[in-house]
Amino acid sequence: MSELRSAQWYGGNDRNTYIHRAWMRRGLPEDAFDGKKPHIAIANTASDLTPCNAHLNEVSEHVQKGIWEAGGIPLNLPVVSLGEAQVKPTAMLWRNMAAMAIEEMLRANPIDGVVLLGGCDKTIPALLMAAASVDLPAIVVPGGPMLTGTFRGEPLGCGTDVWRLSEEVRSGQLSNQQFLKSESSMIRSKGHCNTMGTASTMAVVAEALGMTIPGFAGTPAPDARLLSLSHDTGRLIVEMVHEDRRPSKIMVKESFINAIIAVAAVGGSSNSVVHLLAIAGRLGVNLTLEDFDRAGRDVPLLANLAPSGQFLMDDLYRAGGLLALLSQISEKFSQVPITVTGNPLVRYMKDAEVFDRSVIKSPTAPLMENAGIAVLKGNLAPNGAIIKPSAATPALLVHRGPALVFDSVEDLHLRIDDPDLDVTPDTVLILRGCGPRGYPGMPEVGNMPLPKKILEQGIRDMVRISDGRMSGTAYGTIVLHVTPEAAAGGPLSLVQTGDTILLDVPNRTLNIEIDPIELSKREPNPASTAAYAAPERGWAKLYVDHVQGADTGADLDFLLGSDGDKVSRESH
Ligand code: FES
Repeated sequence: MSELRSAQWYGGNDRNTYIHRAWMRRGLPEDAFDGKKPHIAIANTASDLTPCNAHLNEVSEHVQKGIWEAGGIPLNLPVVSLGEAQVKPTAMLWRNMAAMAIEEMLRANPIDGVVLLGGCDKTIPALLMAAASVDLPAIVVPGGPMLTGTFRGEPLGCGTDVWRLSEEVRSGQLSNQQFLKSESSMIRSKGHCNTMGTASTMAVVAEALGMTIPGFAGTPAPDARLLSLSHDTGRLIVEMVHEDRRPSKIMVKESFINAIIAVAAVGGSSNSVVHLLAIAGRLGVNLTLEDFDRAGRDVPLLANLAPSGQFLMDDLYRAGGLLALLSQISEKFSQVPITVTGNPLVRYMKDAEVFDRSVIKSPTAPLMENAGIAVLKGNLAPNGAIIKPSAATPALLVHRGPALVFDSVEDLHLRIDDPDLDVTPDTVLILRGCGPRGYPGMPEVGNMPLPKKILEQGIRDMVRISDGRMSGTAYGTIVLHVTPEAAAGGPLSLVQTGDTILLDVPNRTLNIEIDPIELSKREPNPASTAAYAAPERGWAKLYVDHVQGADTGADLDFLLGSDGDKVSRESH
């Protein structure tokens, strides 16, 4: 066995190794520092302010048992946590900060491997970005979705049904009092959102990338099997250290393509695009927006889960789980990449069974053909934009209509319910100033609410376009991540209310119908440029000065790549 990394702190008889050992003893057995026992960090995003991850301390206890059993030393490492529903102005502003802080703490400490405990939307992406840049043996424990709550006898999909019920209030179908009554039923148990939103999607992504024990993603948070798999994960990370099984050996280009296929098959969140691009950027894997379109294009939507379908995560687990679903299209997955176990993911699909065809569809009768994220280009999005066809209205996927432009979220909220708003169901709503630099942080506001006067006509979807993101729990014909963003001088900054917009998803185009010479003469609206006042200090300044476009993952330019696990000079 080669020397453990932690031996660079503990191995020796001098003053410095004495200091490192002495402060760590605190009840650890004498042989904890004998150079044979891997020291394993449990990067734990448990926090009372990240309610979706609040149960991870209990999960950590079970991981610790497995690590002890396999001959390792478990070390709880609380890390930056991000509660999607709480953090302002948007958790996405802090994803790169969390990833940077976690990366640095993993590298700075005497550890040989790491177990990554995540759940809520940004936590698994930040953990994977950090693990990719440190490249120590690493494995994810996905915290799991919550159980299904009900309101007036109907199941509630958290996130998705908040958007639906609030639109019902605005259209007059539901009283505000009834709406508020549903609040206490929305979150039934521990765990993250129970739709195929971003948290569920990123658990699917982690498994398809090979970074979880196969069959783990989607295990409900309160299920006893989550603790048992956490225990197994603790055992496995010790083996991974001994076998030198690192993220760079697991997350190769084919693993990313596997993840894109899995996301298409489950109708996963559009947010997975920026997260996968960012993780790939840390590993030097050449993943592009075109890969998403190419790999996802002929994948059928098999998961009948909200927001694209009817059921919730608990139902997917009952119906056989993620592996059963992926086994339906197992021939599409590459056998090249290994998972944390050392074996390819497809090997684990062989024994998986589907128990409920209303939840997991067969490829011969899918919920939708060609369900992958579509990548659009044109004079409105020269570097690309994305749309999730499975969440859209089929009749709107080819659409020509006049633009109605909002320069900021505040502008949108001020005018959207104005009875005099010049809007028809054919209007294309455009919201700009919501990209990584413009907001800053690229918030989930692309699923802008429909104008009240349109809702009152019984209309429930319109074409919407934004340089922001949308919640993974949202639905609609919504073009997102337009790049270059308006604040970076993209053509989105030049659109004027009344311009004709042409969206053509089958042909992958997004254009303003305008003479190119006239477009080149236009200047951005001063109101929108004023909305992008750059922050002058702190993280937000660093972020705005260095963030890249959504088309490459919205990471900071100086965080791309990896410094590996190299140990720095002595601290004393
Ligand atoms: Fe945490 Fe939805 S708010 S997963």
